[in-house]
Amino acid sequence: MVRIAIAGASGQLSKEILDGLVETDKHEIIGLVRKDPKSLPETRGVRWAQTNYKDRSQLVHLLRGVHTVLCFFISHKDAGGVDQKRLIDAAIEAGVQRYAASECGSKLESVRDAVLEYTLFHPGLFMNYLGYPRQTTKHITLFPLLFDFDGMRAIVGEQSLDAKIAYSTVEDIVGVVARAVEYEGEWPRVGGITGSQVTVAQLLELGKKIRGRPFDIEWVKEEDAQAGRARVYDTKVFGGFAQAISVPSNDTISGFENYRLPVTE
Ligand SMILES: NC(=O)c1ccc[n+]([C@@H]2O[C@H](COP(=O)([O-])OP(=O)(O)OC[C@H]3O[C@@H](n4cnc5c(N)ncnc54)[C@H](OP(=O)(O)O)[C@@H]3O)[C@@H](O)[C@H]2O)c1
Repeated sequence: MVRIAIAGASGQLSKEILDGLVETDKHEIIGLVRKDPKSLPETRGVRWAQTNYKDRSQLVHLLRGVHTVLCFFISHKDAGGVDQKRLIDAAIEAGVQRYAASECGSKLESVRDAVLEYTLFHPGLFMNYLGYPRQTTKHITLFPLLFDFDGMRAIVGEQSLDAKIAYSTVEDIVGVVARAVEYEGEWPRVGGITGSQVTVAQLLELGKKIRGRPFDIEWVKEEDAQAGRARVYDTKVFGGFAQAISVPSNDTISGFENYRLPVTE
């Protein structure tokens, strides 16, 4: 049995992980949330605790006796990783032994130089996105991320045909996290969960084979991608989806600007 604290516990991925950990019936879980815990369902084995992650001494208090912290902040909403850094510092002060970091864009210096054992799960993209519009996750909202096998439409970088993408199903990610929590050896710093690895060209070919027709591709110039000029926002290629993000919020823009596809070497 391990006492686990999940930061950002009411998020979509967190809820999937929470379900997986609760299922094992082995752990005591503290779900850290910013919203009023009364708005959250009572869940066996889970104690909700409210925090805005701004008060280090409150965090230290909440994390005393915790063995493992799993952080699932959405990083573009935590500018500069400030809240996560405070959480890491509090975890160290509270004597937490293991920390799994929310990875996209966050700076991890305070973990790197510390005694705290940590990992970046690095699961690649959720494979479930490829099955859109079939809902194959319980809590995560799916959308056609770059490849829409249903409508046979894709957004592809002009120079990315040979780029490899790692995909893992959410179910497998949950399974790996549940087993990682129980793992007695030292966590690797880069987890590297990979269900499948595929090049962009292979994925396009796969779609053609399965659906019997080629993808309608929106090609993105490298310089546009680098400059953050996401012409795809205006395109009609993605129909409703493009429309939905055609006036992206500042949050969304900064998220896309900071985001890098988890391409494997
Ligand atoms: N590999 C992939 O394909 C893929 C796809 C989607 C997401 N992800 C990653 O999965 C992780 C979770 O994403 P998600 O989709 O579950 O996001 P989500 O549903 O938006 O949940 C994010 C959680 O983070 C909390 N949060 C946001 N900003 C925060 C801040 N400044 N300080 C503290 N807490 C904050 C939110 O808390 P409140 O509820 O209190 O607002 C929320 O519970 C992220 O690291 C994301 O990059 C990966």
